[in-house]
Amino acid sequence: MGNYVIYPGSFDPFTKGHLNIIDRVVKVFDEVIVAVAHNVAKETTFTLQERLEILKEIFRNRPEVKIDCFEGLLVDYVKKAGTNTVLRGMRTVSDFEYELQMALANKTLFKELETVFMVTDSAYAHISSSLIKQIISLSGSVKEMVPEVVETRLKKKLLKKRES
Ligand code: PNS
Repeated sequence: MGNYVIYPGSFDPFTKGHLNIIDRVVKVFDEVIVAVAHNVAKETTFTLQERLEILKEIFRNRPEVKIDCFEGLLVDYVKKAGTNTVLRGMRTVSDFEYELQMALANKTLFKELETVFMVTDSAYAHISSSLIKQIISLSGSVKEMVPEVVETRLKKKLLKKRES
């Protein structure tokens, strides 16, 4: 394995904003490990298994993009993966405060940790998972915001939930 970076997140759901970050970061690093966080205390729309399935489908022909998951502290996962570099996307100024806090907390836990930030392309800066879920629930189209597989599975899940 060459020079690689870990891209952690909830990815609930995975969006075209995330995809844009990955497409660009593989021009900087040889590989990226997309690490899906399994937070048992947090209620998610897609289960961990579903999020992994979706990501594996999207990147099935992209050997430079590996899909994995982790539970517990990110720094412990990063250490086990044998690296010290984490990637985060930054959409807006309002992301900055949260990202800075997280990067500093992680650095306190693991001194060698480096968080690399990549600014999301302006075409995707407005995309958020809560907005996507709201649009789908109101029968709108999110095809500009998420890969096709995500839209299909979101519709199935959220519209079914509404019917029940
Ligand atoms: O996509 P998200 O929800 O903004 O991702 C946040 C995530 C999963 C990267 C962050 O919550 C995380 O690293 N969670 C693992 C637990 C942890 O290490 N917490 C301390 C970091 S401040």
